[in-house]
Parts: sequence; C-alpha cells; structure tokens
Amino acid sequence: MTNRVAIVTGAASGIGLATTQLLAEQGWNVVTCDLHPRPKGTKDVAAWKEHLLLDVTDVSHLRKLIDTAARHGEIQALVNNAGVNHVGDISDIAEEDWDRTLDTNVKAAFFAIQAVLPHFRKRGGGDIVNIASNAGLLPRAHDPVYSISKMSLVSLTKSVALCLSKDNIRANCICPGPVSDTGIINADLAAAEDPEATAQSFISASPLAAAQGRMVTPEEVAASVSYLLSDAARMITGTAIAIDGGKSLGVPPKR
Ligand code: NAI
Repeated sequence: MTNRVAIVTGAASGIGLATTQLLAEQGWNVVTCDLHPRPKGTKDVAAWKEHLLLDVTDVSHLRKLIDTAARHGEIQALVNNAGVNHVGDISDIAEEDWDRTLDTNVKAAFFAIQAVLPHFRKRGGGDIVNIASNAGLLPRAHDPVYSISKMSLVSLTKSVALCLSKDNIRANCICPGPVSDTGIINADLAAAEDPEATAQSFISASPLAAAQGRMVTPEEVAASVSYLLSDAARMITGTAIAIDGGKSLGVPPKR
C-alpha cells in the first residue's frame, strides 16, 4: 500500500476531511486540495502528504494537483468531493450561480478525471469516486440548480464508467445526505431562524435518520468511499450508492 496515492478534492472540511483521514489511516498516500487550508490538528497524519490551496473549477489547477500527486507515488484513486450548494427558486438563479454550481460540482470532476487518465492507463487501472447527493437521485424544488448538478454528476459517473472499463478504470458515486458536521449543513443551520427546528427537519426528511434520531455522519460516507476503492469492489462500476437513510426512496409512511 505504501506507494499508492489517493487524491481527494475539497478536503478542508466535512466529508472530504473524514475521507482523507480514513484513507491516510488505511495506508494510502493522500494528496488533497481545497480553497481553504487543512484544519489545525490534522498535520500529524503522516500519510496525508500534501494539501494544495487551489480552485477545482480552474482546469490548470487540476493539472497541478495531479502532477503534484504523481510525485508521491502511483496514483490509484481520485475522489471528486469538492462541491457547493445552491438553494434558490428557478426565477432567482443568476448566471453566476449556475456557473459556480455546475463548474464546481460537474466540470471539475470531469476535468480531474481527464487529467488523471494518463496515470491510470500507465499503471493499468484506477478508481474514481464522485461525491454526488441524494439530490442526484431525486430532484428537489428548493435547490434545482444543485439537483441538476448532482444528477449530472451521477450521469457523468455512469458515462465515464462505461467509457473507461476497457482500461480497468472504475467510476462510482455516492449520494449522501443530509450529512452532519459539514460546511454545507452547518451553513444551512447558521442561516436558519431556528437552527434546532431546521436540523430536526433534515432528520425527519429521511426515514432511517428519523428512526435513529440523527443525520448521516461524514465518517459513514468516508467508509463507503474506502469500500469503493478497495479490492472488495473490484467488479463494481457505474453505481450510485445512496447513503441517505432512505430519503431518496420515495414518500415515507407517516410516523
Ligand atoms: P463542506 O463544505 O464541508 O466541504 C466541501 C469542501 O469543498 C469545502 O472545504 C470547500 O472549501 C471545498 N470547495 C468548494 N469549492 C471549491 C473549489 N472551487 N475548489 C476547491 N475546493 C472547493 O461540505 P460537505 O458536505 O463535506 O461537501 C462535500 C461534498 O458532499 C460536496 O460535493 C457536497 O455537494 C456533497 N454532499 C453533501 C451533503 C451534506 O449534507 N453535507 C449531502 C449530499 C452531498
């Protein structure tokens, strides 16, 4: 395991941070990026090799990320996790909201995959995990642009999986939500008039979350990323795994 490199985008907080820490503990050499520095107290994880401050919507930055990662060993895994939320009615969406959401959540994943391809092909394979959302399985009226971006990411995952299987390259995505202790959920709660009631509404929107009285955790999402990158998943490609407590299954029975 010592020479294998995993790249994680958006690693400064939430799901990306939990994924980075888990993969580093499991012996991957992890190279990450974010707009923000990695949090204090995480620098002692030896296998977290490097964290670049860059913008994934800039394709030249993505190439720099991949080139840097290649200096730490053989790149075997790419986790496209960096993402932004956008809540807003269709009538209120500005062009820059559309561009920022689609560029971060879809374009960046596509061009990161394109940039890592030569490395995967050279070593005879590689594994991609994209962090989509339950909004990628079932669109939502309050955040149509986010839903469009995450449905596109699910579609991107399946297309890439189909195109690249012949090169022994796998692509899967995870559709989580709502996930506690993440920048996205914390921002929603901070903006809410009644954060406690808003947290409860997130929990009650998901039948298993309601049954367990809690949201999905970043560590639960990280564990699924780790599984998809493991040998146990060598025949799994093109899937979209929901980790949303059944939220995207349909309308639950009244409790
Ligand atoms: P987060 O806000 O804690 O993490 C996202 C990270 O991406 C942040 O550190 C942010 O700085 C970084 N980022 C954003 N734009 C970037 C850019 N242009 N360049 C580089 N880094 C950038 O939130 P969370 O929840 O951990 O988000 C991770 C992924 O999970 C996102 O793709 C999000 O859409 C997805 N997700 C989150 C859910 C939740 O309930 N928190 C539910 C479903 C999906």
